[in-house]
Amino acid sequence: MSETERRFDLYGDGFKRDPHPTFTAMRREAPIWQQAGLDGSTPIWFVSRYADVDAMLRDKRFVRDAALAHDPADLPPEPELLRRIGQHMLNHDGVDHQRLRGLVSQAFTPRRVAEMRPRVRAIADGLLEPFEGRGSMELIGDFAFPLPTTVILEMIGVPGEDRDRVRVWGNALLAAPRDADEGRVLEAQMVEFADYVAALVEERRAHPQDDLLSGLVAAEEAGDRLSLDELLSTLVLLITAGHETTVNLIANAVLALSRHPHVRDALAAEPAAMPGAVEELLRFDGPVERALNRWAAEDVEWGGQTIRRGDPLILILGSANRDPDRFEAADVLDPARSPNPHLAFGKGAHYCMGAPLARLEGEIALNALLARLPGLRVAVPEEDLRYRFLPGFRALEALPVAWDVAG
Ligand code: HEM
Repeated sequence: MSETERRFDLYGDGFKRDPHPTFTAMRREAPIWQQAGLDGSTPIWFVSRYADVDAMLRDKRFVRDAALAHDPADLPPEPELLRRIGQHMLNHDGVDHQRLRGLVSQAFTPRRVAEMRPRVRAIADGLLEPFEGRGSMELIGDFAFPLPTTVILEMIGVPGEDRDRVRVWGNALLAAPRDADEGRVLEAQMVEFADYVAALVEERRAHPQDDLLSGLVAAEEAGDRLSLDELLSTLVLLITAGHETTVNLIANAVLALSRHPHVRDALAAEPAAMPGAVEELLRFDGPVERALNRWAAEDVEWGGQTIRRGDPLILILGSANRDPDRFEAADVLDPARSPNPHLAFGKGAHYCMGAPLARLEGEIALNALLARLPGLRVAVPEEDLRYRFLPGFRALEALPVAWDVAG
């Protein structure tokens, strides 16, 4: 087989609809497998077993910063846009990563996040109230998107009315263009995102307040801790990571519960069981299917394969989370599963910084939905459900739902 041929289809509609038969075959037949990536030519190692994904995420020989895995002459020049908005913790390793993460991590500790519980609940209730008597809604646009987006924008200190523009920009950042025209549109949107964030910074520099954004501006002004590009990049990362993922936690969970009505009804009767159920829903169909690409910083022998310095790798979290060698009855949705060492938030140095917030939002959102919208279910045939073209993410385009209305 040539390197450009793909043994496993990891991008088609059928795969998106149900990736698990493919993942099962990969884990069994080719757990560390090199084939062409999305561009149809670059060979990428795909890793599908839990033990490998878990160990590689913690192994410092696999890095996020391509510069640590290549000779400078072999790297293409960094695009201007990436220089402006790509200088954040998730694109760095070692001390730079620690410095960038350290500047914001205090805002996301479980204690700080727990203080936000009443506010998150109020936002969830406020979004659902107008719909209660109606019997139907489009779950993503009406609820799953505005909830986490309002929360993260308020935390940072960004005007809430900019929510819908943020939705376009977040998509531009994550989407893979299907052709050159689409590529240009997405790039223009990302430039708009960068300009928007730069304007926010200048506004807050002039009028500091008591919010995360002002804290970051102060760190940038202190000079040695954060550059302006790093500041803009961090804001773009927080805004995007803070909403694109939790939206899909809520939507994927509602889809799973609609397919498992006995689980839905049991949870509706016992809200205290929701935190455990959220963990299981993250394992079962988490929003992030694949960790971001890693590069091998040196030659590595692994599982009978030779991974060369500079080779890119994709670690498939969604496959690891269904590995029967790690999870009993891995394909069964069991909200009482314990322990549940899923990898939906990644592992190691880049373990999701927003995990406490995402867990809180997931718990509050799902409990509010089940309490207010009895018999919540998907309102369209399964074949009408469409996934966004975001390789690496499990993101439905829309999720029409219905519920029982008295009278
Ligand atoms: C259910 C929702 C979420 C899921 C499933 C999720 C998943 C992940 C995963 C898998 C990673 C690691 C990526 C990798 O190693 O390649 C990550 C990193 C990250 N996440 Fe989340 N995330 C969620 C929500 C959030 C929220 C609400 C925030 C809030 C701002 C956030 C902020 C971050 C940040 C800043 C990083 C980078 C950490 C680092 O590089 O040290 N995430 N997330």
